[in-house]
Amino acid sequence: MKKIVALLVGLTMVMGLAACGNANTQTTAPAANEAAEETAAPAEESEPEEQAEAPAAENKGNEKLVVGFAQIGQESGWRDAETNDVQWYAARNTDTIELAFADAQQKQENQIKAIRNFIEMGVDVIVFPPVVETGWEAVLTECQEAGIPVILVDRGIDASAGDDLYTTMIASDHVWAGEQAAIVMNDLLGGTGKVVELEGTVGASAAVQRKQGFDDYIASNCPNIEIVDSQTGDFTRAMGKEVMESFLKSYSDIDAVFCHNDDMALGAIEAIKEAGLKPGEDIKVIGVDGVKGAFESMLAGEMNCTVECTPILAQQIFDTAAKLKNGETVDKWIMSADGVYTADQITQEVVDGCQY
Ligand code: AHR
Repeated sequence: MKKIVALLVGLTMVMGLAACGNANTQTTAPAANEAAEETAAPAEESEPEEQAEAPAAENKGNEKLVVGFAQIGQESGWRDAETNDVQWYAARNTDTIELAFADAQQKQENQIKAIRNFIEMGVDVIVFPPVVETGWEAVLTECQEAGIPVILVDRGIDASAGDDLYTTMIASDHVWAGEQAAIVMNDLLGGTGKVVELEGTVGASAAVQRKQGFDDYIASNCPNIEIVDSQTGDFTRAMGKEVMESFLKSYSDIDAVFCHNDDMALGAIEAIKEAGLKPGEDIKVIGVDGVKGAFESMLAGEMNCTVECTPILAQQIFDTAAKLKNGETVDKWIMSADGVYTADQITQEVVDGCQY
């Protein structure tokens, strides 16, 4: 354990500190989610669940459950909510949990470095959201060789790398989210219109799969809806605004924008307003995540829809990690049950009930 404490000093990490922000008051989805239970992700329609076994988990001799979490960074309000939830949960359970937390500042090389530190520390379980889908083979093989189970959270890795490289994934169904956005888009546009798309981080599974779900649905079901342009806004509000500004300069007839997250949608809304147009009316806006800012914007009539992707994953993460430490089997994909929220469902009460 001394070795663990010494190595922690080299990381941007938090152990047992109280979390701050909105997500730290509970570990359930925001009250707003109750509004759209009927449209919750059809988890039961997914493929029969595969079971995953922990890689011959070695007993590390840690008294508590020691978890290393290599966070991507702080690109969005959603990401902050996930971080706050994990840190808050660990801080509330310091009698049984030790959390080593690293912030990779959006860089894959930093995530890899943090994972290697966690291996050296002898943590029981490693948890991380892969910033991009590819390039994990070497470090995940090192985790396997060290007998440390790996939980992917909120994003996956490229299937061609082989899914035996990690133990389980706790995440939303991003293809489903893209499809739901397309279904709502079709309704909003009455089946006809020109759409631009603001993509998330290039190579991130959340971006690749949301695009796949959205584009495929439109191509197969909406012959009169055209996706005229699609560019990355890197999941940030600033880039969402910047890219929307350039779309508005290039195309005078945009009817709607699909944004892979709410932060980019909020940036796009700023750009639309600055161009003298009315977001939500002149240009329909759909996001993904379900952060408080999106609900506020829907209440103000500026955003039309958000598809939820819950960041409140801490309880599942630590419960699953505890099972893996005990050598139990868990499902290969622990899928979040998310909802779809349209502006007509949103009241002040719903906004006030949002936790992040
Ligand atoms: O992987 C989840 C995505 O990452 C969220 O939708 C986004 O806001 C975050 O940055």
